[in-house]
Amino acid sequence: MAKQIALFNHKGGVSKTTTTFNLGWMLANKGKKVILADCDPQCNLTGMVLGFMDAWDFSSTYESKKVKNIRDGLAPAFESRPAPIEPVVCEPIKGQPNMHLLPGHIGLAEYEVTLGIAQELSGSLVTLQNLPGSLHHLFSKTAEKYDADFILVDMSPSLGPINQNLLMTSDYFIVPMMPDYFSAMATDSLASILPKWSEWAKEAKKIKALREAIYPFPDKTPKFLGMIVQKFRPKKEIPAAAFQNWIDQIEKGVGEKLIPVLRERDMLLPEKVYQKNGFQIDQPLLQMADFNSLIALSQKHNAPIFDLTDEQIGQTGVVLESTKKSMLQFRDLYAKGADLIIKLVEHA
Ligand SMILES: Nc1ncnc2c1ncn2[C@@H]1O[C@H](COP(=O)(O)OP(=O)(O)OP(=O)(O)O)[C@@H](O)[C@H]1O
Ligand SMILES: [Mg+2]
Repeated sequence: MAKQIALFNHKGGVSKTTTTFNLGWMLANKGKKVILADCDPQCNLTGMVLGFMDAWDFSSTYESKKVKNIRDGLAPAFESRPAPIEPVVCEPIKGQPNMHLLPGHIGLAEYEVTLGIAQELSGSLVTLQNLPGSLHHLFSKTAEKYDADFILVDMSPSLGPINQNLLMTSDYFIVPMMPDYFSAMATDSLASILPKWSEWAKEAKKIKALREAIYPFPDKTPKFLGMIVQKFRPKKEIPAAAFQNWIDQIEKGVGEKLIPVLRERDMLLPEKVYQKNGFQIDQPLLQMADFNSLIALSQKHNAPIFDLTDEQIGQTGVVLESTKKSMLQFRDLYAKGADLIIKLVEHA
């Protein structure tokens, strides 16, 4: 069974999409079969993978008769079609045979209100009982088709019903953060919203109509794999003071507010699993510096920031050497992050 990992923070621009793509690629480098699911109607992940420049190529994904994106995948449930949900025909990823993209669709946003009603009424309306389990069903079917080990779910920056559903039907979740005031604030609202979502899922799991739906609501309790702090500015390899101050604030908020509520809600792995891997759950799973010029190159070539060829970097001499040095540092960090995730997920 594929493990579903949600990358969630309702704070926007904290590197959810960038992390999904790069981390997914690293897990795939390590031999894992990965599906990246673009669940943000902005479709940034789809753009990043398929290429922002080749927008005309998207038509094959959106005008095909086959089910090739998330909206068309969910349509049988949301548009009450007399056909079952089928696995999505995913997009292959250039240069990474172990990874596929389940493309996003701007029309996913049109299902948000209906899903919200279905989740509020929690099965009392027969016509809506198949909706709360439909996203998970679509992912499971698609993961089966591609024999995936991991589904990484890129989410929009919102606290809407789709995100509530995606998070509560995942096996694990990671919270990307930026070292700033708003990420520190976002920790507080996560600590307030996650118990509510957990309570909703607990009740939903008990409802017979949802359990016995065509797409049953899955019995999941997502576990926290940690936060990822992005974009601090390195100063002699350590974060500059201002950034470090915000990282400290975030760690404090996570340790004092978020972790206790997650513990209460059984949304943490057993303490010994973190301990065995030398990982303190209130510390970042990964800390990433500013990618600087690598981010533009990564986007230009639809390649991860840590696996660019000399030709893609397009520099020579000492400039090339310095870019490569920084790239290799990022490769090392992502590799360590991916190893830790694999161990945590395998409870090793
Ligand atoms: N470590 C980094 N260094 C430099 N730039 C970065 C880094 N991580 C992300 N970015 C840039 O920051 C911007 C926001 O990143 P991204 O789109 O991944 O965030 P997001 O959380 O998915 O945003 P949204 O909430 O809109 O979905 C992008 O332009 C991305 O290229
Ligand atoms: Mg995004």
